[in-house]
Amino acid sequence: MIEGDFKEMGARSVNNIINKGGTILKSARSKEFMTPEGRKKAHENLVKNNIDALVIIGGNGSFTGGLIFNDEYKFPVIGIPGTIDNDIYGTSHTLGYDTALNTVVEAIDKIRDTASSHNRLFFIEVMGRDAGHIALNAGIGAGAEEILIPEEDMGLDRLLDSLRKSKASGKSSSIVVIAEGDKIGKNAFELKDYVEENMPEYDVRVSILGHMQRGGSPSCFDRVLASRLGVKAVETLLEGKSNYMVGLIKDEVELTPLENAVKGKSQVDKELIRVSDIVSI
Ligand code: F6P
Repeated sequence: MIEGDFKEMGARSVNNIINKGGTILKSARSKEFMTPEGRKKAHENLVKNNIDALVIIGGNGSFTGGLIFNDEYKFPVIGIPGTIDNDIYGTSHTLGYDTALNTVVEAIDKIRDTASSHNRLFFIEVMGRDAGHIALNAGIGAGAEEILIPEEDMGLDRLLDSLRKSKASGKSSSIVVIAEGDKIGKNAFELKDYVEENMPEYDVRVSILGHMQRGGSPSCFDRVLASRLGVKAVETLLEGKSNYMVGLIKDEVELTPLENAVKGKSQVDKELIRVSDIVSI
């Protein structure tokens, strides 16, 4: 928008991309759009190209930019939640989240082979920014012995206690999933040192899954969700409505005012925390 780099698209423009990860649009965070001058340029280019609405696929930052833009130029915007972190209010699932979960579970399954073959304890760090959705869900899905998330400060003592209990109960290897935004005060490498100091009987390794979580062919769930949200976004604009985010609430596609989506706080499912405490013994 800022560079005036537009390409008219039709149905055939998206041939054979449903199975691809990443973005063919190559859109990304823009520092210039954060400035009034950048947004002015964007608006002038949109008007010049007869574009009358924006569908913004992104997270909190993108939606905030969209709200400001709408406020300044009364330009119609609709948000589609797209981030692996699942940290958006007004939807149970963001695009990319389910695919990331499947990638993480597959990776942990593979790491578990080394853990159990060589009686090791693994700290596996997953993405999620400040939220623990990926860690909590993938942790349960991969049968992790402990899951450390920012929403619940487990404390170092409880972690050691839990690892001791696992050992005493006959487990020879363990997987601890740690969310990158966890607030336990130590990163995965510091936790390794801490546990090795306190429990020398453990052979500890660290694995940071990193950007593999952001790529790859989307899961069927994500493909269907993207199709549903895309249709709803366009239909909403055609009905003359704007400033909403389309999202999934109780498996129905619903509208949430964009402002609420930005200001609201997505919560991890407390029931899942309870379940993970029970099943990870
Ligand atoms: O918000 C998505 C996310 O993948 C986070 O989970 C992660 O912290 C961040 O983006 C990584 O960003 P970058 O690719 O710019 O390092």
